[in-house]
Amino acid sequence: MVKVGVLIGIKSSESEIAKKTAFNVSSALRLKGYEVVEIPIDENLVENLKREKINIAFISAHGIFGEDGTVQGLLELLGIPYIGSRVLASALALNKIMAKKIFTYEGIPTPRWITLNKKDMEEKDINEILKILESFKFPLAVKPSSQGSTIGFSQVQSKNNILSSLENAFKYDYEVIIEEFIKGKEITASIFEYEEIICFPLIEIISKSKSGIYDYHAKYTPGMSDHIIPARLSPETYKRAQELGIRAHKALGCRHFSRVDMIVEDETEKIYVLEVNTIPGMTSTSLYPEACKAYGIDFPELLHLLIEKVLREG
Ligand SMILES: Nc1ncnc2c1ncn2[C@@H]1O[C@H](COP(=O)(O)OP(=O)(O)O)[C@@H](O)[C@H]1O
Ligand SMILES: [Mg+2]
Repeated sequence: MVKVGVLIGIKSSESEIAKKTAFNVSSALRLKGYEVVEIPIDENLVENLKREKINIAFISAHGIFGEDGTVQGLLELLGIPYIGSRVLASALALNKIMAKKIFTYEGIPTPRWITLNKKDMEEKDINEILKILESFKFPLAVKPSSQGSTIGFSQVQSKNNILSSLENAFKYDYEVIIEEFIKGKEITASIFEYEEIICFPLIEIISKSKSGIYDYHAKYTPGMSDHIIPARLSPETYKRAQELGIRAHKALGCRHFSRVDMIVEDETEKIYVLEVNTIPGMTSTSLYPEACKAYGIDFPELLHLLIEKVLREG
């Protein structure tokens, strides 16, 4: 019997979601007849991996210490096969600044941005920062480079609020992005790579949070967001968004699955890529399993296909 280790990212600010993803993934795997062992990602990980003698790993982690390439590197070192993106793609995708640089190189549209690090903040005064932002259209979006779940995000309506938003974002990261806020429809593209790379039906997300932002509360509280599948877009825009999703997945060198968050601007129907999630949430109410189901594959089957593929091909 194939033994799968579900490695749980308990050390990031998204640990609660990682546990729920792990629960859903483990149930799906047991349903398919796999032996499953859950192992927390902590300082005992190496010993536990050696003791459990798993055949393959599924990394159930969002954010640092799991989605960022660290655990992938460890598994490479130990020679344990795993599902999902490898070290480099994982690290690039988790760092929104690096990801945006690659999108720009590849001609993948992403909101116009600047980055600031903690050192810049200490050295520059706010007027200098505002000067750099002179040609930017307000509102702006401020967010930590390497967080998920909208943690540390704020929308900035005017120059007066920028400092407090930056201070908030810097609580979570050394590097922060300031980018143009795109007013439009929020959509997400669930990418699946098996024989070829495909994009499942696009999901449109309507957040019921007061600000309209798809924030932590809206993401994880039942009833606080509506998912419309397929997303309500013109056929041309729909097709372009699916293609962009696949291009973003490829640009970062992702493997097996990813979820690409985008916004379609109301005025222009222009599509902007915000980020790529290499380990999207896979809880029972998450977007990725929902898109997978809408395409016609059930989620346990998707995991099974990937495990077989990795065990066959490495
Ligand atoms: N430039 C932007 N314009 C409009 N909304 C944004 C922008 N950046 C982020 N958001 C909002 O914040 C949410 C989280 O941002 P995202 O870049 O996807 O990071 P993460 O999901 O990793 O926290 C998005 O789903 C969206 O609602
Ligand atoms: Mg996102």
